[in-house]
Amino acid sequence: MASAASSRDVARQTQSLRETLQHHEYLYYVLDQPNISDAEYDGLMQQLQALEQQHPELVTPDSPTQRVGGQPREGFVKAHHTAQMMSLDNAFGEQALRDFDRRVREKANLDVVDYVGELKLDGISMAVHFTDGRMIRALTRGDGLTGEEITENARTIRSLPLVITKKGIPAQFEVRGEVVMNRKSFERMNAQRLKDELPTFANPRNAAAGSLRMLDPKVTASRRLDFFAYSLLAGGEAYLDYHWDALEMLAGLGFKVNPHRERLAGIDAAIRYGNEWLEKRHSLPYEIDGLVLKVNSFEQQRRLGATSKAPRWAIAYKLTAQQAETVVEGIDVQVGRTGAITPRALLRPVQVGGVTVSRATLHNADEIERLGLQIGDRVLIERSGDVIPKVLRVIEEGKDRQPFPMPVDCPVCGTKLVREEGEAILRCINANCPARLKESVLHFASRRAMNIDGLGDVLVEQLVDGGLVKSVADLYRLDADRLESLERMGKKSSEKLVKNIDSSRKAALPRVIFGLGIRFVGERTAQILADHFASIDAIEKASAEELEEAEEVGPRIAVAIQEFFAEPRNQALLDELLQAGLQFSQEKKTVSKGAGKLEGRTFVLTGTLPNWTRDEAAERIEAAGGKVTGSVSKKTDYVVAGENAGSKLDKARELGITVLGEAELIELLEG
Ligand code: IVH
Repeated sequence: MASAASSRDVARQTQSLRETLQHHEYLYYVLDQPNISDAEYDGLMQQLQALEQQHPELVTPDSPTQRVGGQPREGFVKAHHTAQMMSLDNAFGEQALRDFDRRVREKANLDVVDYVGELKLDGISMAVHFTDGRMIRALTRGDGLTGEEITENARTIRSLPLVITKKGIPAQFEVRGEVVMNRKSFERMNAQRLKDELPTFANPRNAAAGSLRMLDPKVTASRRLDFFAYSLLAGGEAYLDYHWDALEMLAGLGFKVNPHRERLAGIDAAIRYGNEWLEKRHSLPYEIDGLVLKVNSFEQQRRLGATSKAPRWAIAYKLTAQQAETVVEGIDVQVGRTGAITPRALLRPVQVGGVTVSRATLHNADEIERLGLQIGDRVLIERSGDVIPKVLRVIEEGKDRQPFPMPVDCPVCGTKLVREEGEAILRCINANCPARLKESVLHFASRRAMNIDGLGDVLVEQLVDGGLVKSVADLYRLDADRLESLERMGKKSSEKLVKNIDSSRKAALPRVIFGLGIRFVGERTAQILADHFASIDAIEKASAEELEEAEEVGPRIAVAIQEFFAEPRNQALLDELLQAGLQFSQEKKTVSKGAGKLEGRTFVLTGTLPNWTRDEAAERIEAAGGKVTGSVSKKTDYVVAGENAGSKLDKARELGITVLGEAELIELLEG
């Protein structure tokens, strides 16, 4: 009797340990939020291993101890899918996405379609079958109709739950999703393979695919794979009424569902989501090869149906082809704010990712030489995001190709160009060169500097060429009547511009420092200098050593600052700007009113706020001692959300972080 009771105890203890470990696996691998240390986890695991060793009859296939992989096999067994695992059609660029939406609306007879946006994870798909709450089989996609059984390998993926305890789900269901390897694991694995003199994998996708299809599951276990669920089926059909609800249910059951999903009402929201993530994709810990847009309602999905390969209710949104071939028809040079001369290829216009490109930067003379480029050559160009297109290489030399000699004199003011020692760049050193002046004015007025709205390049050109602006300080002498006399300037826009110029006098010190356009002094350095010295006067008086006492300021920046102040023309400019009433100083941080109110607090801003730009909100938070970061994590104290807030807001809710609106932020700032 006694021994029967104690063996029951052991069984109970084993089961309880197993559940505890499963819970911690969930916190660690699915939610990324462990609440015990690795050592504590290992301790619990060792206890379970010891118990299972003493009582082998208690070992279950879904015990956390079994994640290490079982016996190797000779080959894989094939099995049919419950329903075809389809692929997705691609849409390259916005127009293709709008065409998809039009087809959906026409076919489903809808005005506006509710979509769900998801990341298109770049891994390999897997179907996992559960019976009575236990994982019984996992299959690769194979040809879509039949896949290979990789159950033992799937068992080793820590973020795939093997036991589902929640009720309210059919006895038999299937979860489909993507197996990925994150960049870090990929890099670590390849580094190890290099050391072991093994061939490396070309990308995380190949690594995930190779690892999942290992005949020896122990090898799979040693590779850090992740499973993200994106579909829930029962009897080969969608479960529930809406895809969004199915995703929520999957998350509730303990599956890892990608947090960057979003409900999108209509195609404009979908395009905004798509472009946002295409741009941010490099910040993700794993690779994506686009976004997926799915019609939310399963009833509508059924009405839309599928072609032989892909559903009509979903589409993969991908980056447009970013490269194109064209002919270099000429080369000219531009003069930048610092006098730097940049050669530019004038191209036969060509479409690159939906945009017509007719210019590409050639950086400097050395680059032209490196490319072996001459006018008339056929070249490959590349455009990525907002960056200026560039020439990648010459594809074919032109028949009547002409070399391009870099100019000896500034093409704008005629001053002899100078090439400083050790520099690849030619410069116009005439501080009064109109080309330099135009660029300086544009920089001074730009959003992140003095933020003078309405001062664009056409107007600046008119102002400089017409002699109305001979230095940045002249901006503060412009009046509305004068402006109105210019071509294409009305009364209203002239008055508005004067008002904007006027209010820029109040721009904070860091903006003024940045706006001056001192070499190597970007926005961040300007902020650091303002914090450290609190006035332009103090920066000017500082020795090189004193300048270097400021964070991140090294000898190169210190020299550039001193050179700037040593130039008499800049001295004259500073006098005029001071007279114009610009902010040349600020209160020392420690004594400024309200400072420290948000000391030690970390904020993330998302969406459009009603009155403040995000930069303004960030400036105020920082002025009160708070810190503003770009992504939401457990360390975030507050998320300030405005209209159209996206995944950051979702993440905040997921992590239980306090979400504030603009009004609440003001309250917090004002105490
Ligand atoms: S849905 C019928 N959602 O992309 C729709 N697929 O080319 C089936 N993929 O084989 C797929 N992330 O391996 C869907 N969030 C996601 C996805 C995703 C990656 C992969 C999947 C599929 C391929 C389609």
